[in-house]
Amino acid sequence: MISVYDIPDLSPDEFARFAELIHQKASITLKEHKIVLLSNRLRRRLHELQLSDYESYYRYLQSGQDPEEMSRFFEVITTNETYFWRTTQNFELLKQDLMPAILADHPGREIHFWSAGCSSGEEPYNLAMELVEGMKQLGPFPFTIRASDLSERMVQFAREGRYQGRKIDRVPPAILRRYFREDEDNAGHYYVRADVKQRVAFHAENLFETRVGPFHCIFCRNVMIYFSRQDQLKLVSRFYEALLPGGYLVIGHSESLHMFDTPFETRQFANGVAYHKKRV
Ligand SMILES: C[S@@+](CC[C@H](N)C(=O)[O-])C[C@H]1O[C@@H](n2cnc3c(N)ncnc32)[C@H](O)[C@@H]1O
Repeated sequence: MISVYDIPDLSPDEFARFAELIHQKASITLKEHKIVLLSNRLRRRLHELQLSDYESYYRYLQSGQDPEEMSRFFEVITTNETYFWRTTQNFELLKQDLMPAILADHPGREIHFWSAGCSSGEEPYNLAMELVEGMKQLGPFPFTIRASDLSERMVQFAREGRYQGRKIDRVPPAILRRYFREDEDNAGHYYVRADVKQRVAFHAENLFETRVGPFHCIFCRNVMIYFSRQDQLKLVSRFYEALLPGGYLVIGHSESLHMFDTPFETRQFANGVAYHKKRV
């Protein structure tokens, strides 16, 4: 029997079929130069599933006999890499620049956030922790966080809220003590505390298929890179609709909306840029 590692790269036709499936299910655009990357990653999946060619994998995926496989397939293409205290400037922007304005606009109201493309949950939990920390300066306010990702597996992981190693390396010790509890049976493994977890509701869903909101603020960091320009613009419009007037969109530090013609107003603050939905 030949080893899957002897299987050649995807042919252009095979690549096109997988690329079409990815676009159809996740709106993710795979450019042709990704053929070697996709071949290498799929070969690993074929090996794990003991399948001998891409065609068998395509049929297996489409058959739906293993509902988790579509999630794994997305993970082959996207990176779910994330960690607590990633680009902390975004959280400073939120606490110091955006929240005072949001709270002044909505006194006494519950504030709603969306972590769109939350991967394994670090971003929304981090948001919850930073918002509670921010209350020391801002005073108390009720809030909810909706967190969503395409990958069912990532969302399941996020709901468990158990992290270790690189994922929590950057968490300041005082925060680790305040918002996590160490697993008694596994040193170095930490659970997010229940009072933080209850602030976050996780959903496995495609950003292009759900209509949710309204929100006061949306975080969508390091997600848009997967989409074509056309789909990015579509997504930005969906975010605009999902925000309340006066609301803000925060994207990743290497991302920008400057090439798009959108109704958002670009606001430069001391801690970075946020996109503002103006009040009419
Ligand atoms: C690199 S992670 C970003 C995690 C987090 N926002 C951060 O910045 O650390 C990108 C995530 O986007 C998700 N994603 C990609 N396409 C998506 C879609 N169409 N709908 C929902 N999530 C999607 C992937 O599953 C992945 O978990």
